Amino acid sequence: MTKPRLLDLYCGAGLAAQGYIDAGFDVTGIDIEPQPRFPGPFIQMDVLKLDLRFIRSFDAIHASPPCQAHTALRSAPGAKAHPSLISPTRELLRAAGVPYVIENVPGAPLLEPVVLCGSMFGLGADGHQLRRHRLFEASFALPKLRCAHRQPVIGIYGGHVRNRAAKHGGRGTADFPGANKKGLALDAMGLTDRELTMDEISQGIPPAFTKWLGEQLLAHLAGRAAA
Ligand SMILES: C[S@@+](CC[C@H](N)C(=O)[O-])C[C@H]1O[C@@H](n2cnc3c(N)ncnc32)[C@H](O)[C@@H]1O
Repeated sequence: MTKPRLLDLYCGAGLAAQGYIDAGFDVTGIDIEPQPRFPGPFIQMDVLKLDLRFIRSFDAIHASPPCQAHTALRSAPGAKAHPSLISPTRELLRAAGVPYVIENVPGAPLLEPVVLCGSMFGLGADGHQLRRHRLFEASFALPKLRCAHRQPVIGIYGGHVRNRAAKHGGRGTADFPGANKKGLALDAMGLTDRELTMDEISQGIPPAFTKWLGEQLLAHLAGRAAA
């Protein structure tokens, strides 16, 4: 049987792609920057210049437009202005008419998003839970999961691995003690067998999130085929 084909837009090093591969998709990545560690076929180009016929040759789409326009850091002194690519990406995907998922950070203007968090998937390292909330808008219904924050928190942001107390709502800025920062970050994100830079890890989505989304997509595609 041939596998369903998923197009991963704004793919980065392919952490999101890894979860869809684990769910059973063949994944092709698109990014404006070279991505030598992407785990599959890769095309370097601007997503907003993609041809609709090319997009329609896939069974499903995942898109992770850059989040800089929507993070708290956007209003930091001296911060560069970043255009939001969410609306143009949604327009492109709606025009293509292929089932899609768009991912971004809390605060981004996604429509009726579902939140996923490391605590829903047992992610973490060294007795710390991975707190990594990400929003997912989908063109089909997604079930809602609940966060289960209990232990102290490990957070991976901007190349840092932060050690944060659960009693402070997972906030605080202490760097995680110990030398193997990257090993901890890979472990917490569920990426123990990938070679990645700290920047690639910081930008990515844990594959456990997209494996779950991939399973929802497969069920949706099967329902459509049956109908
Ligand atoms: C948040 S990162 C993606 C991380 C990825 N989803 C993962 O889990 O590994 C966003 C990516 O969008 C890419 N990007 C920014 N503007 C783009 C554009 N117009 N077309 C294609 N890629 C773009 C950046 O190079 C960056 O790799």
